[in-house]
Amino acid sequence: MIDIHCHILPGLDDGPKNLEQAVEMAVLAKQSGISKIIATPHFLNMVYAVDFKAVYTGATVLSRELKKQKISLEIFSGAEIRIAHNTGLLLKKGLLPSLANSKYYLFELPDIFIKDGILRVLQQLREQEIFPIIAHPERNHTIMKNPGVINDFGNEKALFQVTGDSVLGKNGKLCQKITKDMIQLGQVQFIGSDGHDIEFRKPSLENVYKAVKKISDEKTARKILIENPEMILDQASGGKHMGKRVG
Ligand SMILES: [Fe+2]
Repeated sequence: MIDIHCHILPGLDDGPKNLEQAVEMAVLAKQSGISKIIATPHFLNMVYAVDFKAVYTGATVLSRELKKQKISLEIFSGAEIRIAHNTGLLLKKGLLPSLANSKYYLFELPDIFIKDGILRVLQQLREQEIFPIIAHPERNHTIMKNPGVINDFGNEKALFQVTGDSVLGKNGKLCQKITKDMIQLGQVQFIGSDGHDIEFRKPSLENVYKAVKKISDEKTARKILIENPEMILDQASGGKHMGKRVG
């Protein structure tokens, strides 16, 4: 499986504090059937000062260490970007990191937002022909109060990534219900672990795959946890799916 949302880079945000902890997360991810991780530290979320250089350096340092320790897990650079009124402008200026240098970008919504404001940003992103992925909509307060917003964002061509723990019910009953409904309605294109450590928010997806299979079917589990993420990495390397939109 490929994890497209994981805070595994050391010392950048609320993920691992050092390289040793990052390696422990990598080992756990590998054991749970993950072969590739797109590392997505918080970006522009006003708490952590993460820039482009820090993301690339972090991914390179961790990759090198994993190779040295013979842990076969590939790390790609990425970011979880806090969406704001100026996101379109920052994207135009080339100031936002994408997932593995592809045209897919992972965006985090503010907990409280005005729908029309986000729709305007999504329109601006669409004009720039990128593929925005909204991270864990099922855990967002505004969406939990009004899940219908998911449809509105989907109509604006947003893609959705839910969190593995939400599928398993670890984020509460409402999150699980929204997630289940989204999967059954075909609104989920990706599932990420949103891993932060090896104890509370683990980079693990093995039980998630089984749960998705149960909620829908094997084909859907494969698509969400393997094939769609592969398409991001393939598109990034200019492969056969270049420019083709997931979903
Ligand atoms: Fe995250």
